[in-house]
Amino acid sequence: MLEQRLRNLGQDHIARLLNSEGSPATRQKIVRDLEGVDLELVNSLILAKGLYCPTRGELEPADVIPATFASSKEAVASIEHGRELLSRGKVAALVVAGGQGSRLGIDAPKGVVGVTPVEGKSLFHLFAEKILALKNRFGRAIPWFIMTSRENDSHTREYFRENGYFGLDNGEIHFFVQGMLPSITEDGKFIIAGNGGLFMNPDGHGGTFMALRRSGSLGMMKGLGIEEIFYFQVDNPLVKVCDPLFIGLHSLNRAQMSSKVVRKTTFEEKVGVITRQGDKTLLLEYSDLDDAVRYARDAAGNILHWAGSIAIHLIRRDFVESITEHGSLLPFHRARKRITVSDASGKMTEIEGIKFETFLFDALPLADRSITLEVLREEEFAPVKNLTGVDSLESSRHMQTSLYASWLNRLGIEVGNGISVEFSPLFALDFEELNLKAALLPRAIEKDTYFG
Ligand code: UTP
Repeated sequence: MLEQRLRNLGQDHIARLLNSEGSPATRQKIVRDLEGVDLELVNSLILAKGLYCPTRGELEPADVIPATFASSKEAVASIEHGRELLSRGKVAALVVAGGQGSRLGIDAPKGVVGVTPVEGKSLFHLFAEKILALKNRFGRAIPWFIMTSRENDSHTREYFRENGYFGLDNGEIHFFVQGMLPSITEDGKFIIAGNGGLFMNPDGHGGTFMALRRSGSLGMMKGLGIEEIFYFQVDNPLVKVCDPLFIGLHSLNRAQMSSKVVRKTTFEEKVGVITRQGDKTLLLEYSDLDDAVRYARDAAGNILHWAGSIAIHLIRRDFVESITEHGSLLPFHRARKRITVSDASGKMTEIEGIKFETFLFDALPLADRSITLEVLREEEFAPVKNLTGVDSLESSRHMQTSLYASWLNRLGIEVGNGISVEFSPLFALDFEELNLKAALLPRAIEKDTYFG
């Protein structure tokens, strides 16, 4: 049956492995790899149907609520509303952690990497403490959904188990696994991996929506009374998980999917930008920006499309239900990647492969209503993407310590040059909480210090 389907799709070399040519182990691996894979969909992607088409037509800059709004009198009602939704248990947190982290080059889930400046806490540990701090503050657990991939699911679960779920209740954390798709060669053939199975790749963070539905997590959210999903990526230690202002603004505006942005610093900065076309909000990946959009200037000569996405979104649960009801509505993006395979003689060799992925932000234009909130990069965005340089472990640690030092400076406390400081979210989740504990703090900080 599977064999015949593969033949019909021109994948005879795989069909043969399922028949007489493959060992029982190989057969088993291939069958398992293709379990749940929609082969007809993959075939249409190979034939270039259902692929993302760059948006045509005039693009306007996004309508953005400026960062200054946060300290205005008008913000109070939104913050109050956000807090109320949190204390009524209406918000879930969701982190996507199914990526391969290839730029970081580690053989483990990215979430286990130690990132904090003094204690070297892992990303998962830090997020868990933020969620625990919110639970303490609002008197209500925040269900935390963690998307993994087939490759890192067991490692991720084991890591949480070994660490006693970092103080959260095991039942408050819900792992779910995203889909995988076979990678292909330039001429559309599936690739045999070193382990004898197929070379597969996770189906992108856009796979979150269908994975939520298929895994039963969406139904579970409904059962728990969740209305809003706070979405973030695994690599940003500065994320303000379940920020009440963002939740309140999004909810009071009856938005279905909303985004946080920072001001781009250069035309070339590698972040996606939020733009508008008519009444639709769009997010364009940096690699899809054409030069006319990338280098467009406003009347004052500044970057016109300045709203750089930091991949933090609020998404209504019922919006996810509606866009997944009849299968995924997201277009697929095609990306080249180097793949190591063994050739006919068993020698390892690198080939240029192609992977297909969907992107979560392609759901933005499907939303009838969306808001975009500007935040300050130094307060909310320090991603760990690369080993060195921009967006690296080093730059992220530096930004974390700078933020904590700025809180101390606001309280009149000096932090020596080159000194690292770190607050556990359980000590102070934000400046306001630190302010309440000012009497506990020293007058000056002259050595690396952790407040736990
Ligand atoms: P990135 O685009 O940074 O990809 O993912 P990555 O796989 O982590 O890293 P590189 O590009 O291989 O170096 C952004 C976020 O989306 C998640 C990642 O885990 C990260 O939180 N993601 C990405 C998934 O959950 N699944 C995917 O298929 C892709």
